[in-house]
Amino acid sequence: MDLMEYQAKELFAEHGVPVTLGIVATTPEEARAAAEKLGVVVVKAQVKAGGRGKAGGVKLAKTPDEAFEHATAILGMTIKDLPVHRVLIAPAASIEEEYYFSFLLDRANRRYLCIASVEGGVEIEEVAKTNPHAVKQIPVDPGTGVDEEKARAIVAEAGFPAPLTDQAVALVQALWRVFVEEDATLVEVNPLARLEGDVLEALDGKVSLDDNADFRHEDHAVFEMKDETDPLEAKAKEKGLNYVKLDGEVGIIGNGAGLVMSTLDVVAYAGERHGGVKPANFLDIGGGANAQVMADGLDVILGDDQVRAVFVNVFGGITACDEVANGIKGALEILGDHATKPLVVRLDGNNVDKGRAILEELGHPLVTQVDTMDGAADKAAELAGA
Ligand SMILES: Nc1ncnc2c1ncn2[C@@H]1O[C@H](COP(=O)(O)OP(=O)(O)OP(=O)(O)O)[C@@H](O)[C@H]1O
Ligand SMILES: [Mg+2]
Repeated sequence: MDLMEYQAKELFAEHGVPVTLGIVATTPEEARAAAEKLGVVVVKAQVKAGGRGKAGGVKLAKTPDEAFEHATAILGMTIKDLPVHRVLIAPAASIEEEYYFSFLLDRANRRYLCIASVEGGVEIEEVAKTNPHAVKQIPVDPGTGVDEEKARAIVAEAGFPAPLTDQAVALVQALWRVFVEEDATLVEVNPLARLEGDVLEALDGKVSLDDNADFRHEDHAVFEMKDETDPLEAKAKEKGLNYVKLDGEVGIIGNGAGLVMSTLDVVAYAGERHGGVKPANFLDIGGGANAQVMADGLDVILGDDQVRAVFVNVFGGITACDEVANGIKGALEILGDHATKPLVVRLDGNNVDKGRAILEELGHPLVTQVDTMDGAADKAAELAGA
């Protein structure tokens, strides 16, 4: 789960990273009221996307009326397709320099990585291209982590100015606590700012939490924002389905992540022959493809208005094809009139003959059986392209 800036800053504050929290507003009136309390402020769009400043989502407001105006504009914006529902009203800081700092999981090398730069914060990607030596990459051994000694080494290598050394060492350790104690896969501060009077402060924050560790962080549930989640993804999550919405027209259901991934590929390939149709989603119903799971999966996919045909691709294993066929049959009964789009079904594997016979006998007008994966992908793409 990715956090918004204001949520990341709440975690930062809990672990002793210097931040100024500000006030979250969902209406221009609330923004004005916040600015009346805080004085000169920055109005900042709260969306889970980078480049908010460049998109016009970060604006200085000298008066409460200006905060009202900026909030009106920003709350009406979409940034990278994400509608802005909230703004953070943060006290304006007088910035002297901007730095970049992050901890992240380095999967390929089975360790953590610290990335730091004291040359320009926000344009870090640009700095990395034009002056790669200015961006330090410092490996962190998961066994030893970041103690004070390691923090000093990081600060020295990054090249923080001398007057900031002790603050930077404390800040690096505090960010490390956020990273480890909250089970994050990314903690990023951009910009980390040197303010007037040589004060170091995190002016922005980005945190990705590892969902696999949710079970030991009940307190993270407050970060989940219903209004920011795709409604179909929310529904799928509620039913325990592994679903990701994509932007094509062919709904996909398969058993096993590997099979579903390759189904996406063959559908995308077949789609080129039928007007460029594409997969509409990833949906893995896993091993137990009973009627209820199948019905839940179809229900989610049929709820996507963009879907014009569905491809059910199942390889029978422990759950055999006849059980899956009965699952599809039961799902169509459960869904009744709600099932409105053509289904192309390809069954193979354990008990394939029995499975195919069940669907044959059902003779449902929406169901077409095709024996091969490529053939079925082609048929589904054809139906979606028509
Ligand atoms: N509290 C603040 N006071 C003064 N200036 C600020 C403040 N917060 C942000 N800024 C300025 O706005 C710029 C952009 O802010 P911020 O980093 O929060 O957004 P962003 O980097 O554009 O968005 P993202 O991090 O999503 O890419 C900062 O580099 C900084 O110059
Ligand atoms: Mg930023």
